[in-house]
Amino acid sequence: MSRENVNETAKLVLPNGQEIDLPVAHSTDGYDGVELGKLLSETGFITLDNGFVNTGSVKSQITFIDGDEGVLRYRGYSIEELAEKSTFMEVAYLLMHGELPDFTQLEEFRMGIKYNTELDWDFRKIYEAIPRDGHPMPSIAGAINLLSNYNQSCLDPHDPEQVEKATQVIMGQVPMIIADIYRRLHGMAPMYPRHEYTLVENFLRMMFGSPSQEYELDPELVHTMEVLLILHADHEQNCSTSTVRTVGSANANLFVSVAAGVDALYGPLHGGANQAVLEMLENIRDNGGDADKFMEKVKNKEDGVRLMGFGHRVYKNYDPRAAIVKKHAHRVIDMLGGDELLDIALELEDRALNDDYFVERRLYPNVDFYTGLIYRAIGFPTDMFTPLFSFGRLPGWIAHWREQNADPRSKIFRPRQVYQGETERTYIPLEERQ
Ligand code: CMC
Repeated sequence: MSRENVNETAKLVLPNGQEIDLPVAHSTDGYDGVELGKLLSETGFITLDNGFVNTGSVKSQITFIDGDEGVLRYRGYSIEELAEKSTFMEVAYLLMHGELPDFTQLEEFRMGIKYNTELDWDFRKIYEAIPRDGHPMPSIAGAINLLSNYNQSCLDPHDPEQVEKATQVIMGQVPMIIADIYRRLHGMAPMYPRHEYTLVENFLRMMFGSPSQEYELDPELVHTMEVLLILHADHEQNCSTSTVRTVGSANANLFVSVAAGVDALYGPLHGGANQAVLEMLENIRDNGGDADKFMEKVKNKEDGVRLMGFGHRVYKNYDPRAAIVKKHAHRVIDMLGGDELLDIALELEDRALNDDYFVERRLYPNVDFYTGLIYRAIGFPTDMFTPLFSFGRLPGWIAHWREQNADPRSKIFRPRQVYQGETERTYIPLEERQ
């Protein structure tokens, strides 16, 4: 039975003896929440939760995670089933609209995106200003910010038609921008999307093809890419999605909100971890392949070194996405001729899962542990791994931004603080300071 409408309160007793009854927000699955909105006005206290370890910032209907059991569902469908049976486009529709599309809905959705893959010619000139030795992520974020100026007819967050158009432009053009920036960084001639290909096929063509030749798509690799994109498509209120929601809460348009998400994702503790994992594996290999030595460094917290691709704020069990990726890593890497880095990764995982340090802290492989190995096998350079994560996460960012904007109860995000700085003091003129 749904308990969403059951009235319950939680009593909070404060140090000064004051008591307050706080309403409980019931979930359909997982944790209930204690609503604290009136705490300050009625008691003079705020809550403090460093890193939002225990804070629900929104009520959402999009994605469910049970971190203890290792469960992930988009709109009620298990990630395992979606990865096996769906396409990225179906999953994107599901996240944004709440239901799996029928044939007509899917076709309309795909067409809307497909006919919005082409970039304005003037826009493409921005690539010339991108330095060739920089990481692609800031350039991708910059380009998405600028899309907002090139699409001024769809910036109103409260006009559903404009939101739909902005969604199509972002879903269609951002993957092309990622491929364009890759080509620019590698001094390759530009490629343009073609309508006979799906979004994923166009992306692969634009990454690895040449304008002078037909590109031969490998259906196995297309399928693998589809699966990886599905696995990255949403993960409820993670750092980048919360960033998108924060920026969007100020009524900022979809383009700039998504650009902010790309910036947050760039961080090595978030999306940047997939690149960091591969660099870690290469480092271990280049230093003689001694996994034990590396693990000792991690456990002694030497120089802040961590086992990248391990641990998660929410999962205290095997990340279900990591289990799927691992299966595909074996398949793709075997198909493409093996990789010594996979052996190192398997050895690290085995050691970690049998080591007290990791067991006590409940640290398991996360989605990033094996993805980089697949990307590498397909031929993506290391600095393209996080851009690939951002491609996959587009539907989630958009779905959360849309959910927030469609909810009339949404408010601008504006946390409080517990101030611990100086109390009021007298200004000392410069000439009197010592
Ligand atoms: N290697 C070694 N120790 C770790 C690791 C790790 N990967 N992750 C956490 N710990 C330890 C940490 O040192 C701490 O130990 P102690 O209790 O002795 O101080 C304990 O485990 C709890 O860690 P935390 O940093 O308080 O946990 P958190 O929830 O704040 O951080 C995390 C979560 C994902 C940032 C962290 O586990 C981490 O840095 N992992 C490596 C980076 C990574 O793989 N990130 C990708 C996350 S999944 C995809 C995504 O979100 O983009």
